Amino acid sequence: MDTSLIGKIFVITGAGTGIGRASALALGKAGATVMVSDLKGDLAQGTAAMIVNTNGKAEGFQLDVTHSDQCNQLARKVVEKFGRIDGWVNNAGVSSMNRLVDLTESDWDFNMDVNAKGTFFGTQAAARIMTIQDPDPNSGLRGKIINIASMAAKRGNAPFLAHYVASKFAVLGFTQAVAGELAEFGITANSICPGYVATSMQERELAWEASLRGISVDDVKKLYVADTPLRRLETAEDVAAIVLFLASPLSDFITGEAINVNGGSFMD
Ligand SMILES: NC(=O)c1ccc[n+]([C@@H]2O[C@H](COP(=O)([O-])OP(=O)(O)OC[C@H]3O[C@@H](n4cnc5c(N)ncnc54)[C@H](O)[C@@H]3O)[C@@H](O)[C@H]2O)c1
Repeated sequence: MDTSLIGKIFVITGAGTGIGRASALALGKAGATVMVSDLKGDLAQGTAAMIVNTNGKAEGFQLDVTHSDQCNQLARKVVEKFGRIDGWVNNAGVSSMNRLVDLTESDWDFNMDVNAKGTFFGTQAAARIMTIQDPDPNSGLRGKIINIASMAAKRGNAPFLAHYVASKFAVLGFTQAVAGELAEFGITANSICPGYVATSMQERELAWEASLRGISVDDVKKLYVADTPLRRLETAEDVAAIVLFLASPLSDFITGEAINVNGGSFMD
């Protein structure tokens, strides 16, 4: 089976660092032309340059996923230049941590806006293009939507993260609804549920959780590893491998799924 992504056009959000960057690099290495976007345009350009410097094809864009007009504008720009969008990866996400009794409306809005609403806007922009483009002659599919959710999208027991959990459960439900609605167009939609991934988001969470629990950052890290049967922190590349799988023809008959990649932290 041909697993190459040569000739495929992928858009990815929040890909200036972390899981998004690792996923963009993996897509680029597999031959896709990668439209790398991030809230921070310079970081997006940096990831795109990493792909181009290793003989891949990429461009970098500033994009705030909480603005539907920006998502639609990027989608139209990509179609004007390349004629289609084969895949859209909604990766941009944020977190904050607080005890329920101290959570603020702005904690709630920040997490819901980027994680849930941003996934809605990105998916909608992609679907507006994908539903009216020709199917791929090999697969019969018009496109693939890949949403980065979280272990916290299935396991609500995540201290100090009630608002984040709500936003990621929303991503899972939304993805299933989209998969059902878009199947008749030959568009798949799936989620990925990572565990404790060592990225800048985790660095921030380690510091918040240490302070909320009154223990050291190292001790929090030990708790994360102890909660992971494979006994290490997850890497961004562990997640990128599943993005690549969902982007490739290997997953053409999978839709509406939420794939765990968490070293066994949560099995469902
Ligand atoms: N790190 C983890 O442990 C973990 C676990 C499960 C799921 N996730 C999810 O994986 C995704 C990536 O997380 P990460 O750990 O790489 O985070 P990160 O903070 O390292 O990177 C996130 C990127 O998203 C960008 N971003 C933030 N707000 C944005 C917006 N409004 N529009 C566009 N881009 C925006 C940031 O600039 C940053 O480059 C997120 O959806 C996160 O919720 C992370």
